Formats: sequence, structure tokens, C-alpha cells
Amino acid sequence: MKVLSAVAWPYTNGPRHIGHVAGFGVPSDVFSRYMRMAGHDVLMVSGTDEHGTPILVLADKEGIGVQEIVDKYNAVIAQDLTELGLSYDLFTRTTTRNHYAVVQELFRGIRDNGYMIEQTTQTAVSATTGRTLPDRYIEGTCPICKFPEARGDQCDNCGNQLDPTDLINPVSKVDGSTPKFIDSKHFFLDLPALAEALQAWLDEVDTAGTWRPGVINFAKGIAKEMHPRAMTRDIDWGIPIPVEGWEDKRFYVWFDAVIGYLSASIEWARRLGEPEKWREWWNDEQMRSYYFQGKDNITFHAQIWPAELLGYMGQGAKGGTAGPYGELQLPTEVVASGLLHLGGGQFSTSRGNVIYVQDMLARYGADALRYFICAAGPETQDSTFTWEEFVQRNNSELVAGWGNLVNRTAAMIAKNFGEVPAPGALEPIDEALLAQIRGGFDTVGDMLEHQRQKPAMAEVMRLAREANKYVSDTEPFKLKGDDQRERLATVLHTLAQAVVDLNTMMAPFLPHSANQVAAVFGISEFMPMPRLEQVRDLDDDSRAYPIITGDYSQTPKWATRDVIIGTPIAKPTPIFTKLDPSVVEEENTRLGVTP
Ligand code: MF3
Ligand code: ZN
Repeated sequence: MKVLSAVAWPYTNGPRHIGHVAGFGVPSDVFSRYMRMAGHDVLMVSGTDEHGTPILVLADKEGIGVQEIVDKYNAVIAQDLTELGLSYDLFTRTTTRNHYAVVQELFRGIRDNGYMIEQTTQTAVSATTGRTLPDRYIEGTCPICKFPEARGDQCDNCGNQLDPTDLINPVSKVDGSTPKFIDSKHFFLDLPALAEALQAWLDEVDTAGTWRPGVINFAKGIAKEMHPRAMTRDIDWGIPIPVEGWEDKRFYVWFDAVIGYLSASIEWARRLGEPEKWREWWNDEQMRSYYFQGKDNITFHAQIWPAELLGYMGQGAKGGTAGPYGELQLPTEVVASGLLHLGGGQFSTSRGNVIYVQDMLARYGADALRYFICAAGPETQDSTFTWEEFVQRNNSELVAGWGNLVNRTAAMIAKNFGEVPAPGALEPIDEALLAQIRGGFDTVGDMLEHQRQKPAMAEVMRLAREANKYVSDTEPFKLKGDDQRERLATVLHTLAQAVVDLNTMMAPFLPHSANQVAAVFGISEFMPMPRLEQVRDLDDDSRAYPIITGDYSQTPKWATRDVIIGTPIAKPTPIFTKLDPSVVEEENTRLGVTP
């Protein structure tokens, strides 16, 4: 089966913090790695989201060019995500010529079918500078829930999308002045004309019952009342509108960003030298697509993006026909997670109340962070990161549970046999352990296929505890003397088999350490890793940028694999690092948390 893993595109307005990768990053990689192991053809795409007013405002503030800003953070983000092990087939950016062309083609198709309508609206202009004011830099009272600090683009209290003119008592967040509103012409996506088709799709999804309840309920809620939404802006940073007379406007960042899933698939196929290959993941009804993101993105993936697709295909009330891209499948599932909050006391903004991915990677490594997110992340509801919990889970679960099992298994084999021993006849206790662990391939696999990663991670850890219990029950360290050597061989063989299979189940979650564990048991080239590569823009030789890509074709199977008798086993060095409790205080001090 063809599976599209469509991962939310991070903004190039700074390095990513752990909340970002808890929402879109790690979950998308766990799923993609699992689906490849289960034998599916996965195409995992994303990139940096580089347009929009916040980036423009940041460039102004830092006094450097906007291109320079996006180049800088694109490089930083691509580096971080590679080190985190996110196995993109292509991680690109929205400032490629390919993306510009695909966005403009989608716009043309939607407009030709009648779903892009021109309307005159009011644009906010700063009373002090005379420049247009970005939506999100206008604040006022929400007309729907009366929250006093709603932004001009959305209300963070009730989650509704807003326009600046909807706000009661709007003021500029930059200097508190009251903005002026001037008339301006814009293209609007005709959501009312697409409403019926959108609702039919959501009803189908709802009946299937596959989405997380919070996500489908939110999507159905916002679908009840739809208005046309502006897809262009009075701004000079963004993708040009291919219509005469529109040279001084640009597409709205969200109009172009979601099209990135399609343009990145096309770029991937072009780079492969098979420019039509992307169609297998888009045109074929049998394909499945999963869109990974934090919950603040649901509107765009469960409404705007499907509306763009339906408009392009001519499947709304106004009819129409699909352009050259043909029939494009709507999302199979919008996999939205909650938010990861920082907890543990008072945070001081002046000292920077964030934890950057790059700091986490440098100090504790990718898999320690990945484990926390898999075990305690915001899968179906918001969750909280504290250094206490991070250290505690690392030490008592990862190190004492899984790491210890790997270590003592390898150490006992190294000391007693130097290689995986041939077993004697298995006793019921041996059979029972192996059967339990093999059963994990079904139970854990089923959970992973259905986006239940937290219970899946918990189940793998439970099985690891069963294996540790088996060690306590069989006491191999007490099996001494020639008459017990065969029993010792059997127990250690059984343990080696258990560890190898558990490691296969750990692999989607913890691919880096899975490779180290595999190496201890003589398995080389286990989980493929992404790589960062410098490439030229396909349509403009003067431009170069980094991409994340990789060859994942040798991904191991999601199945038991027999340990090979006679595989040399050396005394291992510990794979996971126990953290000193002082880390908690040290990190909290760094954060400015006062306990
Ligand atoms: N840049 C957006 C954010 O960080 C996510 C964009 S996802 C995309 O919230 F689909 F629009 F690309
Ligand atoms: Zn509100």
C-alpha cells in the first residue's frame, strides 16, 4: 500500500523547541518507520514554511534581509531534524521554484473552476508607519467568545479563525495604536461553495471512526459555518499571484504551505528522475495519507487544504474539472496531537523559557528525547515536560528497564560463551516468554497503525519488563558448573532472542539505539537513517539549499528474526546513559524555573 506521511512544515522564524517536534516530528517518524517495517511504500515529505508576516516582522526587527533569515533557520532546522533521526524522503522548503510553480498551478485550477472569488476587503494599515499590519499583530476582543486578547488571524481562546476586521476594538500589538482600514481587493477561497463536499467527506470520516475524537469533533465544528476566506495579502514576501494587476500582492502563507505536501512529492519524484512517480501517492484511490501536526493546525488540514483540493478537482457546488495533476486524494487522517507545555514552576521569559531541540540533542542525545515524547508526549491531550520527569523516565524506564536488559543479556553471553549459544530443549518458562514477546508484533503493530503510539510504547516497555522478570525467575547467574551449562545456554539463547525481537519493536521509536543494540547482536545496517544533502534548485541553478533525504529501502521487517547461533558477542558498553539527579536542578536553573 502507498502511504503518504505528510508532516507539518515548521516556520523558519527560529530554532525548533521540543514542543514542536513533540507535535509533528517524532510521531510522524514513528509512524513512517513502522509502516515501512510493515511492508508499505511510505513517502514522507515536509519542509520549512518560509513565507508569512511573522518572518517578515522578525527580519525587520533583527535588521537583516528576510531571505537571510529564512536561509539561516532553514539550515538550522534541517540539521536538527536530521539529528533527531526523522526519516523524511524529502524535507525541502517553500521558497523553491518548484513549490512556486505548483502553488500557482493549484491557484489557476481552483480559480478556473470558479472557487477563487474576488472581493474587496479592508486591510489594516498602521496609523504610525503607514505600512500594512500583519493580521497576527493586531489584537482585540474576539467577536465570538469575547476573549480580550484575540489576534487578527485567530482567537487562541475559542480556536476560531478570524479576520482583523472581526475584532472588537482592534489595536496594533507593535505600538498600541488603532489601525486604519483601507479597501483592498483579494482572492477568496469560496468555502461556502465547497461546504457540502467538505461535509460529505467529514461525515464519511466520522462514520469510519478512525480519527481521534478531539480532531474530528473540532473539524466538524468549524465546518458548520463557512465563509469565503482571503487567500492573498497586501505584502511583498510570498508567492506571486499569476494574474495581471496583482503584482503588489502575494499569496497568504497558509494557502501555499499546505500545497507543500504536493509540491514536495513532485520535487521528490523529479529528483529521483521519475517525474510522474508522485502520482502513485496522490491519484490512486487506494493510497492512504496521514497529516501530522499540533492541534493548532487542524483548521488548515481538515478544512482549507481539503477545500483547495476539492476546488482544484472541481468537486464543489460550481462543478469544474481537474487540472493536469488529476484527482488528488483527500486526507485519510488528520493526526493532530495536543501541545507539550513546559512545567515545573515559574519560567522567566527574560532568560528564555524554551528548550531547544539542538540543546537537548547535544546534551542527552536523540533517543532520550524521542523516548520522553513517545512515552509522555501530548498524543491525545496536552502534556507537560518537566526535567524531573525526563530524568526519572530516562533512568528508571529507558536505562533500568530496557538498557539493563540489553546489557546484562550481552554481558552474560560474552562472559560464559563469547557467542550466541545453541539452546537445549526449551522449558515452558522459555516458551512462554518467547510467545509473549512474539505476540507484541501484532498488538504493538496494530496500535502503531492506528496512531496509538503512547500505548504502543508502553506495551513494548511492559514486554521488556517481562524479559527482566524472566531473568529473575531463571537466575542464569546462578547456573554454574558443567551439569547446568546446557540450561544456561538455553536461558541465554532465549534472552538473546527476546532482546533481538524487542529491539525490532523499539526501532520505530528509538532508531539510533536500535542500531547500537542490533550491532551488539551481530546485526549490521539495521534502521536506515536520514541524511542532509546540499542540492541545487531544480529550476534555478543559482540557488542551493540543504534537503533531508534517505534510502529506507532496506528497512528491517516488523517480524521476529531468529538469532544466529555462533554470533560473537563482546562485553557491551552501556547504550543508554543514566542521568545524575543534579541534571534537574542544573536545567531548571538554566530555564529560570524557581521551584
Ligand atoms: N508553519 C506552520 C506551523 O508551524 C505549519 C504549517 S503546516 C503546512 O504552525 F501544512 F501548512 F505546511
Ligand atoms: Zn474567541
